[in-house]
Amino acid sequence: MTIERLYDTDTGAGIPDALYDHVVFPDPPSDRPYVFANMVATVDGKTLLEPNRTARDLGSDTDQRLLRRLEANADGIIVGATTLRSGPLIFAPRLWRMTLTTTGDLPLNNRFFTDAPERAVVFAPLSLPTGRASRINEVAKLRFVGDTAVDLPEALRIARNEFGIQTLALEGGAKLNGSFLENDLIDEMFLTVAPKLKGSSTLPTAIDGVGLPGGEHRALTLVSIYRDGDELYLRYRAQR
Ligand SMILES: NC(=O)c1ccc[n+]([C@@H]2O[C@H](COP(=O)([O-])OP(=O)(O)OC[C@H]3O[C@@H](n4cnc5c(N)ncnc54)[C@H](OP(=O)(O)O)[C@@H]3O)[C@@H](O)[C@H]2O)c1
Repeated sequence: MTIERLYDTDTGAGIPDALYDHVVFPDPPSDRPYVFANMVATVDGKTLLEPNRTARDLGSDTDQRLLRRLEANADGIIVGATTLRSGPLIFAPRLWRMTLTTTGDLPLNNRFFTDAPERAVVFAPLSLPTGRASRINEVAKLRFVGDTAVDLPEALRIARNEFGIQTLALEGGAKLNGSFLENDLIDEMFLTVAPKLKGSSTLPTAIDGVGLPGGEHRALTLVSIYRDGDELYLRYRAQR
């Protein structure tokens, strides 16, 4: 791993190889954690090389290492149920790990749950199919928020007030990221650009979903750019 700094607004940043070892985030809003998204995409913006796979084959070992370093700066992580269904997810035991589901179709023997059941949280709407709740309750804390879909701002209030999460890593997939964007809940975006082209109009990008209405968009400020070989590590902050 040899990381090179190309641009950084933090004049006190450490040596490039220690990138993301100690990330300084602004204070969180009073009613939710500070949320940073983290994704890896090809140069043409695809976040998977094949449907229903994990994204591990997209980025380099350095990308994997930076992912872990970023997680070390958070109190908790959140992933969508499809990401959880795509393979084993392993996090440091101290991290709160949260997911959202309407179907309740979750791999309850995934290490996501079994490594730290006392820190695993599932948010579901009241419409969760009968019979799913008791099984989920055995391996996680189940919280009902919303009628037919999870009310995301309410879920984040619970994350902050009940579980004390001040900084939350949003780790995809694209649909969950879309829900966060539509609710204006993304404060920062870390994006690894993997030196690959993939094509396809069906593979996911970093953020899918219905998107922001009309010509609306969320403007971003560039915080830093680093590289390792041909791979780029971008950090952007939402303009508020
Ligand atoms: N390149 C990367 O950096 C990266 C990062 C993460 C994931 N991925 C890949 O992305 C793929 C999955 O992405 P995806 O966009 O298809 O799915 P996703 O965002 O991981 O999960 C979507 C699912 O989450 C649940 N969900 C999301 N919002 C909800 C809400 N408001 N209320 C209730 N449930 C909600 C639903 O689960 P139910 O279906 O159970 O109702 C929904 O079907 C995987 O293959 C994964 O490996 C890539």
